[in-house]
Amino acid sequence: QEGLVRDRLDRPLRDLRLSVIEACNFRCPYCMPADDVPADYGFDAATRLSFDQIETLVRAFVRLGMRKLRLTGGEPLLRRDLPALVERLARIDGVEDIALTTNGVLLPRHAAALRAAGLDRVTISLDALDPELFRTLSGGRGEVAQALAGIEAARAAGFPVIKLNCVVQRGVNEHQVLPLVERFRDSGMVLRFIEYMDVGTCNHWRREGVVPSAELRDAIHARWPLQALDPHYRGEVADRYGFLDGRGEIGFVSSVSAPFCGDCHRARVSADGHVYTCLFAGDGHDLRAALAGGEDALVERLAAIWSTRADRYSEIRGEAGGSRRHVEMFLVGG
Ligand code: GTP
Ligand code: 5AD
Ligand code: SF4
Ligand code: SF4
Repeated sequence: QEGLVRDRLDRPLRDLRLSVIEACNFRCPYCMPADDVPADYGFDAATRLSFDQIETLVRAFVRLGMRKLRLTGGEPLLRRDLPALVERLARIDGVEDIALTTNGVLLPRHAAALRAAGLDRVTISLDALDPELFRTLSGGRGEVAQALAGIEAARAAGFPVIKLNCVVQRGVNEHQVLPLVERFRDSGMVLRFIEYMDVGTCNHWRREGVVPSAELRDAIHARWPLQALDPHYRGEVADRYGFLDGRGEIGFVSSVSAPFCGDCHRARVSADGHVYTCLFAGDGHDLRAALAGGEDALVERLAAIWSTRADRYSEIRGEAGGSRRHVEMFLVGG
């Protein structure tokens, strides 16, 4: 079974999105609204997997075929000694690519150490350039100047690929799309627009809040003509477009208007050691007992879980019988 594990829809296990912490220094309303997730929400460092456990876990995933690792949160830079963890994970044979998704405000402090530890790529969330709107979209916790300083720090640290994520919501930040493109299209960084998704339950998602990627693509194309680019690999989440004038590329993540479950090869593990076979799963599978049994026990347990997986939530969204209970975004890192 090792290296060959396939789910019921014949999808391999290629990527792991690993949350290192459930806490966050932001309260983005689409993820972790402050009213639903107060400061004392029950975050508990004692429930988090230790670095030793995480290393065992990643080794087990590699034996099942995983090659790409992404560290997420909450806000992963809040996890103490993160560079030391990256260094341990980067040394594992078979881990070909380690990336990090962050809101960026702590990057000035940590970017150089993360790069030195072997982190390959950074993705930074940036939902608005307008200072007041950025503040609102961070739940009153962040300043756009801090996020921009984080982006600069990532660049100064020498990360070869820096991506910027903007979640677009109708009537909220659509008007930031063209200014964002204008600002970053010649920067060497890859800006991506993400359709607002019904992840979790506390964000009170409504379909009217979604701006279909095709609409944004047309608006951008009218100003700066675009051409579609081939995916880097099968099952890439973002659709890529290049500017015809050669000034870089942008991407669209269209999980609502154009689901991509058919090639989904991603597993997610929460900071407290539960594996989720879909971003929209209701429950995870607790891995801690298997972890206590060591790497071989974990490989066996994960193979059993993956081989029975049949998730394709985005493709059946809205159909009768689909569960409405989803794990919260900040627990599985998107
Ligand atoms: P790379 O392609 O490796 O650069 O990473 P990525 O774009 O998958 O990672 P990132 O954390 O930047 O995620 C971008 C957006 O895609 C986020 O909103 C994620 O929640 C979303 N996303 C990532 N994987 C999936 C998935 O399997 N299903 C759905 N529905 N959304 C996903
Ligand atoms: N829909 C789409 N994207 C979301 N993210 C967080 N919540 C949502 C949502 N409801 C994004 C974050 C981050 C990425 C991992 O997921 O902004 O960039
Ligand atoms: Fe924090 Fe990211 Fe969620 Fe915003 S989207 S609250 S930065 S985990
Ligand atoms: Fe994969 Fe679930 Fe996203 Fe579909 S909705 S692409 S199965 S994580």
